[in-house]
Amino acid sequence: MRRLRQPKIRDLVRETELTHNDLIYPMFVGEGDAKPIEIKSMPGQFRYPLGMIADEARIVADMGIPAIMLFGVPLHKDKLASSAYAQDGVIQKAVRAIKDELGDELLVITDVCLCEYMTHGHCGIVENKKILNDPTLELLAKTAVSHAQAGADIVAPSGMMDGMVDAIRTALDDEGFQDMIIMSYAVKYASAFYGPFREAAESGYAFGDRTTYQMDPANSDEALREAALDLDEGADIIMVKPALPYLDIVNRVKTELCVPTAAYSVSGEYAMLKAASQKGWLDEKAAVMESLLAIKRAGADMILTYFAKDAAEWLR
Ligand code: PBG
Repeated sequence: MRRLRQPKIRDLVRETELTHNDLIYPMFVGEGDAKPIEIKSMPGQFRYPLGMIADEARIVADMGIPAIMLFGVPLHKDKLASSAYAQDGVIQKAVRAIKDELGDELLVITDVCLCEYMTHGHCGIVENKKILNDPTLELLAKTAVSHAQAGADIVAPSGMMDGMVDAIRTALDDEGFQDMIIMSYAVKYASAFYGPFREAAESGYAFGDRTTYQMDPANSDEALREAALDLDEGADIIMVKPALPYLDIVNRVKTELCVPTAAYSVSGEYAMLKAASQKGWLDEKAAVMESLLAIKRAGADMILTYFAKDAAEWLR
């Protein structure tokens, strides 16, 4: 076996290669912020004010990264998440600003969820401490349409409500957005690795947890059923989240369903690698690039990662 591990032949026999085209960079935009705010548990990651988001997106595009995923932190929260689908909401304004600056140079994906916009921080309408499924669908559809009207290229519903893709596809088609792509967070586990994100997006919840809508980490067949349902409802790309602890799931979705598959390497994965690197316990570049390669090898066609800018730089 060692003959093919000699330096002169390694490039030729390598099965997997990571490139710029695999990367999607998640970005946070804060409606009430006057300057960039560093996220404490994610060193090197910032929440940007609306006035800076287009310039930051320009930097990402110039590094050769093809796409970003946008998350909004609104000033106003209520029990119907009304700023999630407001025409002048934080995401709607951010998308317009980025598209004015960059046009088709950068693909803009918007996270379609209500948790950041709800006073209680849950991803759906709440009644008597229950997260209601069907009444939530209409709000998700309105949110997706408003993102499309602002100029988003892809909408990415992440609320794990049953029927959300169907509701969004139908509403988009009715409004004339037949070409709008849907990347569904079809397989989203109730994971402890989202902790730092909730600080960044101010989307911690007031009671309970997300286990009645996000998936049980113990289940794998269920992931395929979730993905199959979303494909049936009109999803174009299936996302698995988190990534590193769920490579078996990434692999099953890709090999059993044969669909474009995205893997989201989440905030907790970033925090782990970053913290160990800062302590000098891991070689950051080597550990990050190995992790990204492993996610791709498992079957991901694209990877959402907070390391996208670092990786783009290291890949040059
Ligand atoms: C919102 C959402 C979350 C993440 C992406 N979209 C948080 C959650 O479900 O609690 C997590 C992303 C990350 O941890 O990097 N529904």
